[in-house]
Amino acid sequence: MKHLAYLNKYLYKYRWRLIPGFIFVVISNYFGVLPAQVIRIAFDLVKENIGLYQLFAGFDRQALVYQVFGYSLLLFGALVLLLALIRGLFLFLMRQTIILTSRHIEYDLKNEIYSHYQKLDMAFFRANNTGDLMNRVTEDVSRVRGYLGPALMHSVNILVIFVMVITAMFNVNAHLAVYALLPIPILSIIVLYVNKIINQRSQVIQERLSSMSSFVQETFSGIRVIKSYNRESNKQNAFEEESVAYKDASISLIKVQAFFFPLIVLLTGLSTVITIYIGGIEVMKGSITSGNIAEFIVYVNQLTFPVMSIAWITSLVQRAAASQKRINEFLKTTPTILSPTTADFKLQGHLEFQEVSFTYPNTGITALKNVSFHVKPDQLLAVIGRTGSGKSTIARLLMRMYDTDEGKVMIDGQDIKTINLHDYRSQVGFVPQEVFLFSDTIGRNIAFGLDTLDMAVVEKAAKQAALYENIMRFEHQFETEIGERGLTLSGGQKQRLSIARALAIQPQVLVFDDCLSAVDTKTEEEILQNLRPVLRGKSALFIAHRISSIKNADHILLLDKESIIEQGTHDDLIAQGGAYFDLYQKQLLEEQES
Ligand SMILES: Nc1ncnc2c1ncn2[C@@H]1O[C@H](COP(=O)(O)OP(=O)(O)OP(=O)(O)O)[C@@H](O)[C@H]1O
Ligand SMILES: [Mg+2]
Repeated sequence: MKHLAYLNKYLYKYRWRLIPGFIFVVISNYFGVLPAQVIRIAFDLVKENIGLYQLFAGFDRQALVYQVFGYSLLLFGALVLLLALIRGLFLFLMRQTIILTSRHIEYDLKNEIYSHYQKLDMAFFRANNTGDLMNRVTEDVSRVRGYLGPALMHSVNILVIFVMVITAMFNVNAHLAVYALLPIPILSIIVLYVNKIINQRSQVIQERLSSMSSFVQETFSGIRVIKSYNRESNKQNAFEEESVAYKDASISLIKVQAFFFPLIVLLTGLSTVITIYIGGIEVMKGSITSGNIAEFIVYVNQLTFPVMSIAWITSLVQRAAASQKRINEFLKTTPTILSPTTADFKLQGHLEFQEVSFTYPNTGITALKNVSFHVKPDQLLAVIGRTGSGKSTIARLLMRMYDTDEGKVMIDGQDIKTINLHDYRSQVGFVPQEVFLFSDTIGRNIAFGLDTLDMAVVEKAAKQAALYENIMRFEHQFETEIGERGLTLSGGQKQRLSIARALAIQPQVLVFDDCLSAVDTKTEEEILQNLRPVLRGKSALFIAHRISSIKNADHILLLDKESIIEQGTHDDLIAQGGAYFDLYQKQLLEEQES
């Protein structure tokens, strides 16, 4: 329960919706209890009038008695109907207030979680898988809503029904009340027990279902691979196994449920039988009327649903508490990378690594050891090296996706940890190694970093990235939808779009992480040509695999196993005749062969 206490702030926020809701609960139940008493009066009236009717046998008056009797019964019938209608109205209002509030809180909570996600750093997203993160916003929140809405409403409802009905029962006859209520505790225990089994089995079903849906999802994403390796029937069999497991779990649940409902009916029936038996004895003793028995039967039946729902509510609350616990844990995670200041920061373009070492926190892999370099405005630094040598890590540290373990990253002579991160990032054009495009139009994908969609800027960026002519050949040009439901761009087109996105923000610093790997050498040459004027007065970090793309860099770092092994200009490095020279020779040969 203590986990759910977190939600109290929301309950407080919506108190002026909830309080009327609870009042409606009380009113609706009051009108729920009243009909029983009306029925009792009607019953007693019937009995009296039958006596009276028989008394007037043979007199003219008998017809009149009959008429009056008939009318009053009709009146009672109408009254019960009216009370039910009033009750219905308040039930409606109760749902309109309490359930509606739960939707409002659900909305607030989702927003709170989502905005917290946006604040967290890369390390967090690496440590948690996407499905898990999704579940927080979707499934966990809707379970919590189960507590805020139905559970809260029915708890109050049940409490009020119990108090009202049991009071009414004891007011009529305590002896009979005790007997009529006797099966209720037994019923509750059975319900709680069976409910536990139902919950366990539902849990299994839930697991089977989610395993089945991830299986299906993976099949769809991997359909190309599945088809080309002829694995369709193989997958079909695996799916069948999943379905059978799901079916078995479902059937085992149905078995318990099938047993559960008749049991409840049996026990309530027992209550009714006891009421009639003990009530009959009381009537004979003269302590109650036969109308009271009818009244009691209505009461007993009114308690059945609440008793049944206690178990349901308990499990709703338990599940909500478990979900809220997960949500709380995550809301308590604080981002380690925060902007320390809101002071404006104007980037010049001095980028410096001072003996930087870095180990990935989640895997313990040391990606950089003692790396130092300095890029001045108007300079282009290139980083080249084997796969896994730590090149992308340099880019990530430069973007402050992570903080260094040792050494410092200095930006314009200041530690990156001390500058306004938001301002800084908005002046750096970063092209990550893995291109990510949103399911949106090409234009808006390029303008992603801009606050407004400025087509002139977008077109210019597309031209610089050598993508403009490609886009113009599409039917809808910049309005072409890409991604899930749209057009699929080729690998090289995607990379150039990603470059255009970085250029569109007119950055002071450019960081390109191996973003020309999927374009041919001719296009690569064109892009590099275009970039020359763009880069004037700016600094750039180019990560590459092919020496051809970085030959003209002002300074080149050759990385191997986390450290810089050689550095200098292309000509220096060739003259050295070391690892860089070997790599160059090898790449030249490959080019000639192809
Ligand atoms: N997010 C991460 N979490 C943990 N370890 C990582 C992460 N990213 C990279 N690594 C590890 O750090 C090392 C350096 O990776 P990095 O991505 O910097 O290499 P790279 O030089 O960019 O390689 P490539 O040329 O293949 O892109 C690798 O051993 C890699 O497995
Ligand atoms: Mg990389």
